[in-house]
Amino acid sequence: MEFFAVAFSLALIALTVVFISRRRSDGGAKLPPGTFGWPIFGESIEFLFGKPEKFVGDRMKKYSPDIFKTKVLGEKTAVICGPNGHKFLFSNEHKYFTAFRPHPMQHLFRSYKDKSAPPAETQRPDETKAIRQPGFLKPEALIRFLAKMDSITQQQLQVHCADKNEVEVYPLAKTVTLTLACQFFLGINNPERIARLVKYFDDVTVGMHCIMINIPGTIFYRANKAAAAIRKELVTVIREKKQAIASGSPMRDILSHMIVVTDPSGQSMPDYEIADKMMGLLTAGYSTVATTITFLMKYVGLNPEVYERVRAEQLEIAASKKPDELLEWEDVGKMKYSWNVICETMRLVPPLQGTFREVLTEFNYAGYTIPKGWKVYWTVSTTNTNPKYFKDSEKFNPSRYDEGEAPPPYTYVPFGGGPRMCPGKEYARLSILTFVHNVVKRYKWEVIDPKEKVEGDMMPAPQKGLPIRLYHH
Ligand code: HEM
Repeated sequence: MEFFAVAFSLALIALTVVFISRRRSDGGAKLPPGTFGWPIFGESIEFLFGKPEKFVGDRMKKYSPDIFKTKVLGEKTAVICGPNGHKFLFSNEHKYFTAFRPHPMQHLFRSYKDKSAPPAETQRPDETKAIRQPGFLKPEALIRFLAKMDSITQQQLQVHCADKNEVEVYPLAKTVTLTLACQFFLGINNPERIARLVKYFDDVTVGMHCIMINIPGTIFYRANKAAAAIRKELVTVIREKKQAIASGSPMRDILSHMIVVTDPSGQSMPDYEIADKMMGLLTAGYSTVATTITFLMKYVGLNPEVYERVRAEQLEIAASKKPDELLEWEDVGKMKYSWNVICETMRLVPPLQGTFREVLTEFNYAGYTIPKGWKVYWTVSTTNTNPKYFKDSEKFNPSRYDEGEAPPPYTYVPFGGGPRMCPGKEYARLSILTFVHNVVKRYKWEVIDPKEKVEGDMMPAPQKGLPIRLYHH
């Protein structure tokens, strides 16, 4: 009897130790609920290839609406959810976390770094300094670029749509977006060069979130090849630009700034480093804008009453100008309904799901402890289609942003928030509004296959490129 009592007590102690050590690993902390999934891969497959809103929605229901743990892309990660999660994350940047890029991204955008270089996450702020500090993307700088944006968009529509009755929107949106970005960031406007780059940027964009298996046929392999091709092209552009600067050409683009800027010791950036930084900026600004334009064309094409309202707004602006006068800042300020349409498109098809942070110091959130070194992920998918915050959330309804009906704070954050909020927001707004202005002025359209499949879960894209039938005004 005594033997059984001792054995029972020992078993109980052992079970308790296992339970406590499971619950309180990482130094006795109460970790968020959830699972790290399979060995090595964790839950990466579900994260990358499932619907993003399903990935988070299922786990929020199963574990907690505030936070859950997972392991994705090789990292133990806490996913912070809902408006409170967004607020907490955007307000505690630098205090608890710093930016973190998933490993495939670090690999693709870091060709020039040697192995002794500091970890990528400590370098990321430096990377975006070039775009934030000189103010290239601030409204003051963009005002000067607006007329050029307008004329490039007009030319592009002329080239790709003027004599057509059918076009595929996605390739068109990509070409227009990349043409604008190449002009603004690099100061180049050579159409063949741009056409060559489109395919490469697609591969890099998809490769930013993938399983890192570098053998022929894999996403990561294709992304590496594409990154090398873009880098090669960019190094050529940089050399040409240096010659142009030396012979006195004006410096109006971000690339020229990067070429002439020096560090405190007077050193300028090596060409390969500039190429990597430019590739990062072009990638950040390319697929996001192209995706938004594409799905906007889809939703507006499927909702004739929305089309009529957007066209009326844009025709009124056009009527207040001389026939060939290009868009000005005040004009964009009047495009309120068109901007609502863009916002509603980004709510239903977020161009960027979310981003990662690295935990700098252990912190508590919603009763759980998140250890130092873990990653934190936030995603628009925890709020943007939740009927609690958006009435008839599945419905495309741009009027929901009208005054007095704005969504509750931190529920609609397509550009993120806080100090890391997207620096390209204003540029994106102007380029998409400029496209809308020009397209509705010239055309009405019909979506040929309203049920066309959307593929790519982290980066949504219409399977057949969204063919539309164009009617010329
Ligand atoms: C519809 C268009 C766009 C959307 C929805 C979008 C969204 C976002 C989001 C959600 C973030 C992450 C913020 C965070 O980590 O908290 C971000 C970061 C960033 N975006 Fe955008 N973006 C867009 C267009 C652009 C454009 C056009 C550019 C460049 C001109 C750009 C450049 C960047 C850069 C450089 C970052 C990294 C900022 C940092 O880590 O400090 N984005 N964007």
